[in-house]
Amino acid sequence: MPSNISNEAPSEMNSPTATSAKPDMLISILARMTMEEKIGQMSQYFGHGEPISEHLVQSIRQGRVGSVINEVRLHTVNELQRLAVEESRLGIPLLIGRDVIHGFNTIFPIPLGQAASWCAETVKQCAHISALEAATAGVNWTFAPMIDISRDPRWGRIAESLGEDPYLCSVLGVAMLQGFQGDELRKNGSIAACAKHFAGYGAGESGRDYSTTNIPENELRNVYLPPFKAAADAGVATFMSAFSDLNGVPASGNKWLMTEILREEWDYKGFVVSDWESIQQLTTHGFSKDNKNAAYEASNSGIDMEMVSSTYLDHLPELIAEGRIDIQQIDSAVNKILQLKWQLGLFDSPYTDASLLPTPLNSQHLQIAKDAAIKSCVLLKNDKNILPLSTESLHCVAIIGPLADDPYEQLGTWIFDGDSQHSQTCLTAIEQELSGKANINYVKTMETSRSYDQTNFKQAVESAAAADVALLILGEESILSGEAHCRAEIGLPGCQEQLIDRIAATGTPIVLVIMAGRPLTIETVLPKVAAVLFAWHPGTMGGPAISDLLFGKAFPSGKLPVTFPRKIGQVPIYYAQKHSGKPATEAAFVHMDDIPVHSPQTSLGMAATHLDTHFSPLFPFGFGLAYTQFSYRNLELSHTTLHIGETLTVRVLLTNTGDTDGEEIAQLYIRDLVGSVTRPVKELKDFKRIKLAAGTSKWVTFELSTDKLAFYDRNMQLKTETGQFHLWLGGCSQSGMQGEFEITDD
Ligand code: NOJ
Repeated sequence: MPSNISNEAPSEMNSPTATSAKPDMLISILARMTMEEKIGQMSQYFGHGEPISEHLVQSIRQGRVGSVINEVRLHTVNELQRLAVEESRLGIPLLIGRDVIHGFNTIFPIPLGQAASWCAETVKQCAHISALEAATAGVNWTFAPMIDISRDPRWGRIAESLGEDPYLCSVLGVAMLQGFQGDELRKNGSIAACAKHFAGYGAGESGRDYSTTNIPENELRNVYLPPFKAAADAGVATFMSAFSDLNGVPASGNKWLMTEILREEWDYKGFVVSDWESIQQLTTHGFSKDNKNAAYEASNSGIDMEMVSSTYLDHLPELIAEGRIDIQQIDSAVNKILQLKWQLGLFDSPYTDASLLPTPLNSQHLQIAKDAAIKSCVLLKNDKNILPLSTESLHCVAIIGPLADDPYEQLGTWIFDGDSQHSQTCLTAIEQELSGKANINYVKTMETSRSYDQTNFKQAVESAAAADVALLILGEESILSGEAHCRAEIGLPGCQEQLIDRIAATGTPIVLVIMAGRPLTIETVLPKVAAVLFAWHPGTMGGPAISDLLFGKAFPSGKLPVTFPRKIGQVPIYYAQKHSGKPATEAAFVHMDDIPVHSPQTSLGMAATHLDTHFSPLFPFGFGLAYTQFSYRNLELSHTTLHIGETLTVRVLLTNTGDTDGEEIAQLYIRDLVGSVTRPVKELKDFKRIKLAAGTSKWVTFELSTDKLAFYDRNMQLKTETGQFHLWLGGCSQSGMQGEFEITDD
């Protein structure tokens, strides 16, 4: 055993230095720690509820616990802290971790829904309130934001993501972590954030959770890593390693990722926690032959804290004694963990006094939840401007569907601390809205979104036939998305499509509201309905938000953060694809029904298309309608040529040409026409949310520095290359005014 390590307990107990620590005092604490105490700091325990288990009590007293996950009863959390601070030898407080993903008690839209707001301020506010509420339970660390680029809607965790685009995900991921962490971590109500899952977890084969990922380094650097780099630069307190295998080396034992990229290239100073038992799982992956070797691989790769499993506690002492793990590595991990505890102010005030924080679920929190839900909803179809519905011309409204009045299912995945008793559903909100103005015929019709029982269809049909409009509130229950909840087909589950058919046959126009945790393949449904409002899982205030949108008290402004496929076979489908040598074009597209029988084999004139569906998506990234129209005119570029280091100013005149107010998300895309590695056909580079009253115009200006055009080249160097660029400015990835410029080194 190296001589600087002692297993003997130094004499002082709970020294005052430990309870009023300053950064240099952390060094002294570290110097006084036994090896067992150090490894204890690197270990996170599962709370197991009440009463606190004797094992946990003893482990905390012995200094074998750095963090506890999933304990949120305040008195229990304070007792855990008391045990740590008063009854362990060095009195080091605990990190209390919890998945606070899109709200604590007040539930905001799922992250994918928040991403549809394209509003950093909204995302930040939601995270800030989530932090304030979580802090009332003594939580000081959340495992969010999840910034895995997600291009596969089969993957259940797409719900928890910020969508498919590296730029949008970076901007919103940073906003979310800033909302959690506040200006200063030690402020009451700030909690540490965690950038997860490093890295590539969203690219699992066939959209199954935890499955293998194979991502070439260039793709990893250009697509999957940028949100993590942005989070590291913005000061995210921690990172979490992914469950998944990346190119043959599981992330939780991947030294290239955790040390070479994260620490050496990015100079990241926070600590890395494994995912739940993901170190132990290195053996299941077939990467380590036993738990001891798993502990070795993980620690050696740079994982500082182990979540839930105990390979560190069980094997690091031996690995250190054998000289396989360097004590400096252990010290560095412990130092980072202590630093975070110090930054959070835990050495000074380990206990939580909830009375110093705002009461959860207060009216301000609910109002922000409602605003966020309004901004998250995306209007996908609105034939003949059926929406907004005018209460003056309505006598009777049919409200149909399993999600119209289900307080739980509108909350979405990851809502451990959300209480559905506080949810306001569509039915209750619309009843309030229409009270004294129109009748409502409500028929739940299906017990759940997955149900195949059509017994109540007749009643639903009668109710729709007697109404001026049928509001169908359909979609996916919460449990159909989220961790380990992936789907091979992503249509409306159960017999919902049959229900739409039956209601459509009445001739009463259908307004379809969809709550879901992912994009759904709704191509066949579209012709049968007059309008579609995609609400994701909108959270506690989903009902009032949707009601305000339907009846014109609010206007839809969300845009898709992810491409909607027509058919599942198109996946992965995303806007920033690369051209093949034979890109899909209308001219080259042939549907199989149009191929003459006994046609000879040929590839001439053929392209990268499917025979059984059009190559375009059902709805492209960035798409979303409003109750008004916006026009983009007079695109101006400050330069036609510029040098590296210069900035292009781009502006366009945006006009609200309709007769209602609205809010547009103006999106700036570029294409680098020729690159030393092939470049996507479009890349989002900036966006702005602009409110415009009916009939008014505004110049919208973007500054595009050439740095923003940089990408990782063949040698994995981040560079802006000279050459021709196209640029688009518009309201969607598939539209907009087009310009051109060139970067030259002349
Ligand atoms: C497993 C999930 O992958 C991770 O995102 C989460 O934070 C942990 N469990 C803790 O619950």
